[in-house]
Amino acid sequence: MNKLKFITLFLTAGLFFAQCSSNKKVASNTDKKIDDVSIVASLNNKFSVEQINEGKTIYESSCKKCHELYAPESRDIAAWEYILPKMYVRTELNKDEVAKMRAYLLTHAKRKA
Ligand code: HEC
Repeated sequence: MNKLKFITLFLTAGLFFAQCSSNKKVASNTDKKIDDVSIVASLNNKFSVEQINEGKTIYESSCKKCHELYAPESRDIAAWEYILPKMYVRTELNKDEVAKMRAYLLTHAKRKA
């Protein structure tokens, strides 16, 4: 009997914690989505359409020296932010060019579902 009580308590506690952590996950996914939307909004605010188009040209001419171009939509914002600093140091691009290229890639990145 004691054993049964213990098992019941254990399972209830487990359920309780499982629910807590899954709620947390849903909340952080939503935050992430809002975050990406505001990153894109602020880039569109800061860079003109012409500058973002320049970013596309910069990307297409500077980033295919060692490998095929990866479609901007092939990665989400977080993935681009992770890989870009590792890649632009391998190019001759200046800060201004990198900023436009980043604006192009991030505004065209895969959106969170
Ligand atoms: C000097 C060569 C070189 C240049 C120039 C270069 N890359 Fe790369 N890139 C690599 C190599 C090597 C890899 C694969 C190994 C690695 O991740 O370091 C790679 C991998 C990648 C990947 C895939 C990484 C992943 O984990 O999925 C992306 C995306 C990428 N590069 C983007 C870029 C962009 C954007 C530029 C232009 C700013 C660029 N690359 C310029 C050499 C280069």
